[in-house]
Amino acid sequence: MSDPTLYPVSDAWAARAHMDRNAYEAARIAARETPDHFWGDLSARLDWMTPPTTIKNVSYDKADFRIRWFEDGVLNVAWNCIDRHLATRGDQCAIIWEGDDPSVSGGLTYAELHRDVCRMANVLKDMGVVKGDRVTLYLPMIPAAAVAMLACARIGAVHSVVFGGFSPDSLCGRIEDCGSKVVITADEGLRGGKRVPLKANVDAALEKLAPEYRVQKVLVIAHTGADIPMIADRDIAYAAASEAVGDDCPCEPMNAEDPLFILYTSGSTGKPKGVLHTTGGYLFWASYTHELVFDYRPGEVFWCTADVGWVTGHSYCVYGPLANGATTLMFEGVPNYPDNRRFWQVIDKHKVEVFYTAPTALRALMRDGDEPVKATSRASLRLLGSVGEPINPEAWRWYHEVVGDGRLPIVDTWWQTETGGILVSPLPGATDLKPGSATKPLPGVELELVDAEGVVLEGAVSGNLVITDSWPGQMRTVWGDHQRFFETYFAAYPGKYFTGDGCRRDEDGYYWITGRVDDVINVSGHRMGTAEVESALVLHDDVAEAAVVGFPHDIKGQGIYAYVTLNAGVEATDDLKKALVTHVRKEIGPIAAPDAIQWAPGLPKTRSGKIMRRILRKIAENDVGSLGDTSTLADPSVVDDLVRNRTGAP
Ligand code: WT7
Repeated sequence: MSDPTLYPVSDAWAARAHMDRNAYEAARIAARETPDHFWGDLSARLDWMTPPTTIKNVSYDKADFRIRWFEDGVLNVAWNCIDRHLATRGDQCAIIWEGDDPSVSGGLTYAELHRDVCRMANVLKDMGVVKGDRVTLYLPMIPAAAVAMLACARIGAVHSVVFGGFSPDSLCGRIEDCGSKVVITADEGLRGGKRVPLKANVDAALEKLAPEYRVQKVLVIAHTGADIPMIADRDIAYAAASEAVGDDCPCEPMNAEDPLFILYTSGSTGKPKGVLHTTGGYLFWASYTHELVFDYRPGEVFWCTADVGWVTGHSYCVYGPLANGATTLMFEGVPNYPDNRRFWQVIDKHKVEVFYTAPTALRALMRDGDEPVKATSRASLRLLGSVGEPINPEAWRWYHEVVGDGRLPIVDTWWQTETGGILVSPLPGATDLKPGSATKPLPGVELELVDAEGVVLEGAVSGNLVITDSWPGQMRTVWGDHQRFFETYFAAYPGKYFTGDGCRRDEDGYYWITGRVDDVINVSGHRMGTAEVESALVLHDDVAEAAVVGFPHDIKGQGIYAYVTLNAGVEATDDLKKALVTHVRKEIGPIAAPDAIQWAPGLPKTRSGKIMRRILRKIAENDVGSLGDTSTLADPSVVDDLVRNRTGAP
């Protein structure tokens, strides 16, 4: 899987980049040895109402656990992303919007963004939203999504964006967990020519809410103009409400450690966790990494294809680029609509300079050959990025040679919802590239590989990836469950942050992420907890038990493989398989739909009743020659049955 070929930094890149090799090495040492000085100086990249005097205050020890950055600083995120640019960039495009329909595009200048954010902030205030309140956003990829995020930030409300592909049930759970009293949505979204019934989903989600979580107001943005029912006293049409307010709204002074947003992500157990990010540290990290990794220059057009429902959309569609005064492109559609040239046409249409996407999209497009790409110019591009999962060397080379015409560096960026922004990535002016490797940590990111017992592994070796020190963009807690935060990330290896990823380090000190080592699977660059899919399956009346694992999938990276034990007397039919897939889509959303279901009369369990997933993973991967020791199973014969009846992945 490793590719020995090295793609060295070009002279031109070394000369123009924010950081060349020497600067990178010097920054790593400075961040390690004099962190307060290093990060204190860099923190001036943000505009502070009160600049911080205390820079880093962190301990990962259980007795004294705390993570605080810039803790006495005061600032506002909307000010940093909008107001401070007005004097110099008021007429510059802040957001370019490309609709699902290729004939529809638009956008906002920084001055217009300021006006729209102020108006929405004033509407929220009129609705009774105050500093610290949570607001749930369930929106399509339209500028109003960024406006809503920034409007919350402007008044100190904490946004929780829920991806528009999640079901009403998932939305309901996320509203309850953070206790939002306000939801912002749109009539409908559009994706690949299909309508997404966002408002109808909100209505369904709110029906399911327990009474104590009653949502008081729903703010509805007209996008497609669909005729949707509005509930009196609860639903507010944004267009009319925004006419009734002024277009100026002061920025709420926020402490650096005040929450900015909550974003739910799947874990290895139970329901999704509300990852909490803060005002100062998060914004600093989004802005710093956006400039460094993409070697961003003021005024450039930057396109991150992620939806704002994911952390990538938060950090690199909205906060990082806007904090840096960029022009950020928001795309409502999908890569293959109206056809598979769409990405490349959008790049030409809007003269995109930096393009940041996921390996799963590249693999899907690659199948159609080079012609759709070659039909476009892509001359504006100067850098390519990848995120979300390991990029296989074959896809890397296609990205480099076909999309980039062999002339553009690729930054393969490793990070997580929890990390706020990129932690491991090449820097285009400093790091020679190896296809498939995220290469090296950014300054201040201290990696280690450990074995299962926590013994630190040296040299070229594989192990579990941990981080031994803090960085400003680190999450601060799991909303409502600080204990779970500590237990999930800091208990396995005391004094270290555990990423949940396995990783190999090669002889040059390059890092190669091998994938999750917990019960989380990475489907098309999106995280899904196997436990969540199992819970959804067992909610079905015919299902007695379910076990879910990942398996290699050509396009998605990993697919979802479900072993299902039916209730006695239920007939195992293909129609029932289809019904179960539909059921999971309805419970969680389309991204959780199993790719394969195998009927399992029994599951391999230890005598204490624990399901041995290792064996289920091997069977799903069709690696049945090395099932390992099955003698500790309560009933070893169930394994033979599962192997015999293995379902070929469709
Ligand atoms: C998990 C985090 C980072 C934003 C998108 C996903 C995997 C992410 C890479 C990469 C190899 C990667 C890891 C990580 N991952 N980027 N460049 N190379 N693996 O955020 O949903 O929080 O998922 O995605 O397994 O732990 P997320």
